[in-house]
Amino acid sequence: MTDKTINWGIIGLGKIAHKFAEDLVKVPNAKLYAVASRSSIKSKEFAARFNAEIAYDNYEDLANDTNINAIYIATPHSFHLEHTLLCLNSGKAVLCEKPLALNSAEVEKMISIATSNQILLMEALWTYFLPHYQKTLEIIESGVLGEITNLKADFGFKPVYDESSRVFNKALGGGSLLDIGIYPIFAALSILGMPEKISAKGKFFNNGADSECYILFNYNNGITAELNSTFLEETPTEAIIAGTKGVLKLHSRFHAPTTLSLSLTGKPKQVFNFEVPYNGYFYEIVHFNSLLNSEKTESDVMSFEMSRNLMTLLDLVKNEIGLVYKRT
Ligand SMILES: NC(=O)c1ccc[n+]([C@@H]2O[C@H](COP(=O)([O-])OP(=O)(O)OC[C@H]3O[C@@H](n4cnc5c(N)ncnc54)[C@H](OP(=O)(O)O)[C@@H]3O)[C@@H](O)[C@H]2O)c1
Repeated sequence: MTDKTINWGIIGLGKIAHKFAEDLVKVPNAKLYAVASRSSIKSKEFAARFNAEIAYDNYEDLANDTNINAIYIATPHSFHLEHTLLCLNSGKAVLCEKPLALNSAEVEKMISIATSNQILLMEALWTYFLPHYQKTLEIIESGVLGEITNLKADFGFKPVYDESSRVFNKALGGGSLLDIGIYPIFAALSILGMPEKISAKGKFFNNGADSECYILFNYNNGITAELNSTFLEETPTEAIIAGTKGVLKLHSRFHAPTTLSLSLTGKPKQVFNFEVPYNGYFYEIVHFNSLLNSEKTESDVMSFEMSRNLMTLLDLVKNEIGLVYKRT
């Protein structure tokens, strides 16, 4: 494995691109080389703020820049397929924001092009790489909780309704399930695996985007996962994993750097603090760079199987609640 500096490009300079760039510039073997926006002014401002060498006013030119090794795609969900294929077909490794696409057929297309071109592709499910989440998986793996019986995870906040925002705009993949419901579902998937049975209920805004989802996963042996996403109210945004010998809590907001508390029967509560000097995107970038430097074309953490299963679960929930996007 080499420790070559990876030249990064970013496509789509919205909210998350800014937070990601704040972390990218702190990764020792990463350089923010170029950024691309549909707006030349926005691109120049972003490049100046983060010291990127080149500011493109369109995505194609960035994808074709031969000095770039890796591209982070931070456009709305409905563009993930198109922009990922643009970059993969220009020979660039792609870290694409979650959800990887709008549906399983699109995910398959992306994986198939990445695989046949032998180019690295990974869904930017940043939570997986965070120290508190790795500790969570370690605690569960150790068996100290006994047999797991139940997992509860919620994600809720009340943004001001704005039809033009990608969060609500159905044409851009808007709605609570794909935007934030993906995190409770990811928690259940990464901890309990694929469920045997899924039931779900949804509420909708007038434009047909889902405002709220209540989801129940049933597993063998009676294990259940109760999951919730909502744009209608603030909810604790915690994850609680209960077992026969104790309970592990991922404090608010469980998908971002946070504290864990472990309460085991008959023992004093243990608290694990995971304050980190980053927004949290640092860890997925370090992982992605190391994959590129070891010439890997798939992550062993956020694997294709994990992205496929995650999208399958999102599709099943969509189906249960009657959520239909134009491309399904
Ligand atoms: N991992 C996380 O913590 C996290 C957090 C938030 C969001 N996300 C994901 O990141 C993606 C972007 O979210 P965001 O909150 O950054 O969105 P955003 O603020 O709306 O930014 C999206 C950017 O995409 C570009 N874009 C291209 N075509 C567009 C169109 N037709 N309409 C609107 N924007 C268009 C725009 O960039 P230009 O104008 O520069 O071309 C825009 O600024 C989503 O898929 C979301 O799920 C992840």
